Amino acid sequence: MKFIQAAENNKTEILRFFKKIVKSGDIVLEIGSGTGQHIVYFASKMKDVVWQPSEKGDNITSVEQRVNKAKLVNLNKPWVVDIGCPPNSNQLFNFVYASNVLQCISLKELGHFMFTARKFLGNRGILVIYGPFLREGKYASVGDNLLDNYLKIRNTEIGIKNLGFVRETAKSYGFEFLDTVSMEKNNLILLFTAV
Ligand SMILES: C[S@@+](CC[C@H](N)C(=O)[O-])C[C@H]1O[C@@H](n2cnc3c(N)ncnc32)[C@H](O)[C@@H]1O
Repeated sequence: MKFIQAAENNKTEILRFFKKIVKSGDIVLEIGSGTGQHIVYFASKMKDVVWQPSEKGDNITSVEQRVNKAKLVNLNKPWVVDIGCPPNSNQLFNFVYASNVLQCISLKELGHFMFTARKFLGNRGILVIYGPFLREGKYASVGDNLLDNYLKIRNTEIGIKNLGFVRETAKSYGFEFLDTVSMEKNNLILLFTAV
């Protein structure tokens, strides 16, 4: 089972945020669950909420293993969701959540991401995006600069996205910007509502 230290480090802070906005009975879809550390932790701490993990097919094993091991009734089996080819499901969620996904996708895939999020939120839900962002084209920290260089060496099409561009892209897919929440390590949570 894969393990990411960064996911361990930020999960408590993100949980505190979720506790403020998610209500009992809500259902949350995570896109790009990765190792599953976040969603398993959230499901164990917020048992009156249903959590739906998802991942690309080629990266789903770890989240499947972690979800199976957790044996939580409010934690669904992971779905295969590639933002470029979302599953043909009509299910709607109250929240779609993605952590540290946007820097791992291209600008074209950012459109796919917004399309997929919108599909699963209908005209009512909230999109929660956590991660690093450029502010008016500038890195928020030296660490972000190093991360961006590291990502771009592996794939020139990916990297940390400009906050303004993410907001514009979200708008073009029918999202209204709600708020920006400052998080540790210069990361942000961006909140949008589907309209
Ligand atoms: C840096 S990891 C973040 C994982 C986890 N959310 C976390 O915060 O630890 C980025 C994730 O985005 C996922 N991802 C990349 N491209 C994707 C796509 N086209 N569709 C769905 N997920 C994708 C990767 O598989 C990976 O799990």
